Amino acid sequence: MPVTAPQKRLFIKTYGCQMNVYDSERMAEVLAPLGYGVTDSPEGADLVVLNTCHIREKATEKVYSELGQIRLMKQEREAAGAGMTIAVAGCVAQAEGEEIMRRQPAVDLVVGPQAYHQLPELIARAHRARGERLAADFAAEEKFDALPEKRTVSGVTAFLTVQEGCDKFCTFCVVPYTRGAEWSRPAGAILKEAQSLAEQGVREVTLLGQNVNAYRDPDGSGGLAALARALAQIPGLDRIRYTTSHPRDMDDELIAAHGELSAFMPFLHLPVQSGSNKILKAMNRGHTVEAYLALIEKIRAARPDIAISSDYIVGFPGERESDFEATLALVRQMGHASAFSFKYSRRPGTPAAALPGQVPEEVKTERLARLQALLDEQQVAFNAAQIGRTLPVLFERKGRHEGQLVGRSPYLQGVHAAAPERLIGQIAAVRIEGASKNSLSGVLVESPAGAPVLERI
Ligand code: 5AD
Ligand code: SF4
Repeated sequence: MPVTAPQKRLFIKTYGCQMNVYDSERMAEVLAPLGYGVTDSPEGADLVVLNTCHIREKATEKVYSELGQIRLMKQEREAAGAGMTIAVAGCVAQAEGEEIMRRQPAVDLVVGPQAYHQLPELIARAHRARGERLAADFAAEEKFDALPEKRTVSGVTAFLTVQEGCDKFCTFCVVPYTRGAEWSRPAGAILKEAQSLAEQGVREVTLLGQNVNAYRDPDGSGGLAALARALAQIPGLDRIRYTTSHPRDMDDELIAAHGELSAFMPFLHLPVQSGSNKILKAMNRGHTVEAYLALIEKIRAARPDIAISSDYIVGFPGERESDFEATLALVRQMGHASAFSFKYSRRPGTPAAALPGQVPEEVKTERLARLQALLDEQQVAFNAAQIGRTLPVLFERKGRHEGQLVGRSPYLQGVHAAAPERLIGQIAAVRIEGASKNSLSGVLVESPAGAPVLERI
């Protein structure tokens, strides 16, 4: 595991038994990838951990008196413009819980012996509570934490960032550390940008955010459903998509909007990550497989033709063959139009990186291949099922062959058809005649007058 050079000072005071000595070492290990190096004095420390023990009498009172002294050091540091985070761990933390923070408000967090791997999350939350920007020292790897590039692909479709950051703290993920807390753009600014995009010929917008369905206008007036309704009023903006969503933020209003708003395309990327409740819990996803399926049922009740996409991770720490098979079973039940799948990648500083039961690389590779074979099969079947249907296609650009245009179906499938160039930027009806894994082909459905039929599904 690559370890970043220490830039922050960590002081751990260990009370009691050998077990606590061992636990203190583990805490230092979990924190090292975040840039914390151990120092031997609380003075000048960025993070002070009291790893407590209550075997001996009056141990609790001793901890409070020690905390009183450390509080003075914290005040001194704060007066000098620096910060100090104070954590209480160990048996006293377990026994007293949040009572410690009530009795000594200088304490930022309390962590019991079962939760040491959660320290990165707890520290990040404590920093946020103090209004500090996160400066966790994660190696830059854009693969998992970047929003799609804000590039206008065709002049017909565009991305529009409406939200950034994440408060969910899935244990495998760097986003809550690298991108910080959930934050939404004011609806007024978004609508203005969308208006200008529409004036430039954009017909379809994809609203972006790491947790886009957590969107809330900062003035408190509305969520993503309200934003989509307002966007749909803009002349020319005929199609609205959004990505990426969290199941926990899929509220009833947003689900209902999928049934009511014709601009909402019948395609939803709603990552579930795993089909095993044990793994979902270890991932800190905050939902079970059953809750996810119940949610999908509700969404399908509102919009029966909706196609669902997802993200899956294989080889999360502790994933056994039976957990992985539960993921395959969930995929079979879902029947995805498309989905992304990843091998679990150990990101230093995230809680899961410190979990036992890391899965060997060759097992991850083998599971990913099996999952991808199943997802490919489903994608091929979903595409083939469109043959014979007439779909509204938003044409985006010229195709590879002379006289051909390429566009998108409501389900985000690429569609090519012979069509005149003037149809770029138009939604036209295409009867689907061919399907492959990655795209569809078809013919324009023309009205008796020879004009392409424009329709909505
Ligand atoms: N390892 C593997 N996959 C990850 N993702 C995020 N972090 C990791 C990681 N450490 C995946 C999740 C997420 C998608 C954007 O990337 O599936 O939904
Ligand atoms: Fe990362 Fe998404 Fe989980 Fe947030 S909800 S922590 S962005 S995987």
